[in-house]
Amino acid sequence: MAQGEIRRVGVMTGGGDCPGLNAVIRAVTKTAILEHHLEVFGIEDAYLGLIEDRVRPLSLEDVSNILTLGGTILGTTNKANPMKFRTGTDSAGRPIVEDVSDRVVATIRRREIDLLVCIGGDGTMAASQGIAERGVPVIGVPKTIDNDLLCTEVTFGFTTAVQTATEALDRIHTTASSHHRVMLVEVMGRNAGWLALHAGLAGGADIILIPEIPYDIEAVCRACLARRERHKRFTIIAVSEGAAPRSGGQVGVITDDPVEPLRLGGISGQIAHQIAERTGLETRATILGHVQRGGTPCAYDRVLATHFGAEAIRLAVSGQFNRMVAVQKGQLTSVPLAAVAGRQRLVPSDHPLLAVARATGVHFGEG
Ligand code: F6P
Repeated sequence: MAQGEIRRVGVMTGGGDCPGLNAVIRAVTKTAILEHHLEVFGIEDAYLGLIEDRVRPLSLEDVSNILTLGGTILGTTNKANPMKFRTGTDSAGRPIVEDVSDRVVATIRRREIDLLVCIGGDGTMAASQGIAERGVPVIGVPKTIDNDLLCTEVTFGFTTAVQTATEALDRIHTTASSHHRVMLVEVMGRNAGWLALHAGLAGGADIILIPEIPYDIEAVCRACLARRERHKRFTIIAVSEGAAPRSGGQVGVITDDPVEPLRLGGISGQIAHQIAERTGLETRATILGHVQRGGTPCAYDRVLATHFGAEAIRLAVSGQFNRMVAVQKGQLTSVPLAAVAGRQRLVPSDHPLLAVARATGVHFGEG
């Protein structure tokens, strides 16, 4: 499609929600209408809205007063990858998984949508790449509290989630201190340790356990006891939901979801039990869970989300498609969707923050 051919823009939010989604929807809609006189359509519940043809016009009025609002006015789901869509169950109760991307493309054609703006994480980018390959022009906007998308230094939602987790760590600090306990705070992040690393550093955690550094439970116990010996009567441990011991796997609930067969969560309870048993120290675990995804975006995320949304439209009207807006070296840019789709950005072993943490006495549970 050449420059100037876009008339109708469809916008959707996919995957888990996070603070700042509405700020992007607002920026996309305002830029499209005010700057480029385009029509905008909101797609409900991510790709489900295109599978089931639930699409509605978005006006300036519809996006008024949503900049600070958490969640997404369009709704979302992390269970609607059109290429791996669960259409029912067979006679044995097993899920039937089918490729329904032709239904998605049919809705887009019927609605005469010329461009799809897909706001989402790695799963949404992978699905969107598949839709782009079927001839639909797409622009991706990177969201996730996990901050695990490739080719961008930051996703919107991450900074707000770090702030929320940090405030929780601050609160845990005071009660840990009063009761002289070992306290674990489990944060989200899936297979990436960004959230635990940042919140752990900001919240003064003594031990940070992330998926990229498999921990040795004996080393974790020794670190807790060493603090005791130095007359530190409490220990704070920030732990990623995806953290795993050297010999052992991640902890979670097994699901029949083809996209997420293991729903992570609960590792902190297991570690708390092991520490208490091995050291005799009184230990408690708190799982922050979806609290980290809710609420109003912080100022940084509002600005980033607005910048991303406006840039998505700017890219498309200048004839650049199938790209994801991104931040590289602190500057707004864009990258091919294909370079991002379905892959995760993990904390590299030489990341400067790991060195900073170690230099300031943080233990990563290594033996
Ligand atoms: O990807 C965002 C995220 O919040 C992860 O950190 C977490 O593992 C997952 O989504 C939880 O998903 P659900 O909303 O299905 O529980």
